[in-house]
Amino acid sequence: MSVKSIAVLTSGGDSQGMNAGVRAVVRSAIYHGLRVFAVQRGYHGLIHDDIREMDIRSVGDIIHRGGTILQTARSKEFMTEEGRQTAAENLRKREIDGLIVIGGDGSYQGANKLSKLGIKTMGLPGTIDNDIPFTDFTIGFDTAVGIVVDAVNKLRDTMTSHERSSVVEVMGRHAGDIALYAGLASGAETILVPEVPFNLDDVAARMKAHFDNGKRHSIIIVAEGVGSGEDIARGITERNGLESRVTVLGHIQRGGSPTHNDRILASRLGDFAVRRLLVGDSGKACGVIKGELVATDFERVVTAKKPFNRELYDLALRLSE
Ligand code: ADP
Ligand code: F6P
Repeated sequence: MSVKSIAVLTSGGDSQGMNAGVRAVVRSAIYHGLRVFAVQRGYHGLIHDDIREMDIRSVGDIIHRGGTILQTARSKEFMTEEGRQTAAENLRKREIDGLIVIGGDGSYQGANKLSKLGIKTMGLPGTIDNDIPFTDFTIGFDTAVGIVVDAVNKLRDTMTSHERSSVVEVMGRHAGDIALYAGLASGAETILVPEVPFNLDDVAARMKAHFDNGKRHSIIIVAEGVGSGEDIARGITERNGLESRVTVLGHIQRGGSPTHNDRILASRLGDFAVRRLLVGDSGKACGVIKGELVATDFERVVTAKKPFNRELYDLALRLSE
């Protein structure tokens, strides 16, 4: 049976570029002659039937906006079999035969289960964390990294004036990619991520050596997955006696206008997901690997872990001596 009508939702933590993804899905679906619906507030809206039909103008003026016009939510009900059955039923009664979920790893777990209930589901990686396997980048990551780099540029000015060190705690739940990419791009001296074990004695000694060797600041980027920036800063000062200041960037990293990279990624992936549904594909997560669009079974994606780029990590350390 060919797909005639699809829906799109955003779920979990929002990310910059989700709106560009929604726009791409809606416009591509209409271009291909499909009816297209939007679900408000992710899986919560699916269970509570908060669904409306979109037209070509419904997604005007959003490509450049952060957040998500569809709102997002974390739904406990959807974690239950009963909740997911209700969600599937709401789609069936409207004769919606395909669903595109834009979200992170948790949202993908949900999409995988929904797809096993017979709903033709496709996923787009919408998270700043870049922790989804089988795609080089996730929608929002590029913007989040840019925000961290901009913050570090500013911190570096004042840290240099005072000859201090700056501990910057960044997001990433269990993943270190924001810290890694922002650290390399901003010339940070230290990058602490959950994927690479570290010893605070070594971190403190290396920082001391840097100051002794003429550096006038030291930037330490801490991924939230390794612990709090406050604890790390205290631990370092106890060991080397050097003064530091802590900045927790928090949700600032998740807002603002998406970069052109995130808009392009979201636009390509949104259109790709619609085209995959049209040719009868489902139960897959869409991504980009080495520039090529790919669709990988949800089951593989939700059971795999994205490999950490150790080469970039070592490069960042070498270049910050
Ligand atoms: P993200 O998608 O950003 O990782 P969450 O982990 O909060 O965000 O997941 C978003 C939503 O996806 C959850 O609120 C829940 O409704 C659904 N979800 C997460 N994990 C599962 C799971 N194991 N089974 C079914 N649904 C899930
Ligand atoms: O997964 C995206 C993310 O922003 C993580 O980096 C962070 O740990 C988490 O979401 C914060 O979630 P919340 O929206 O509950 O504050």
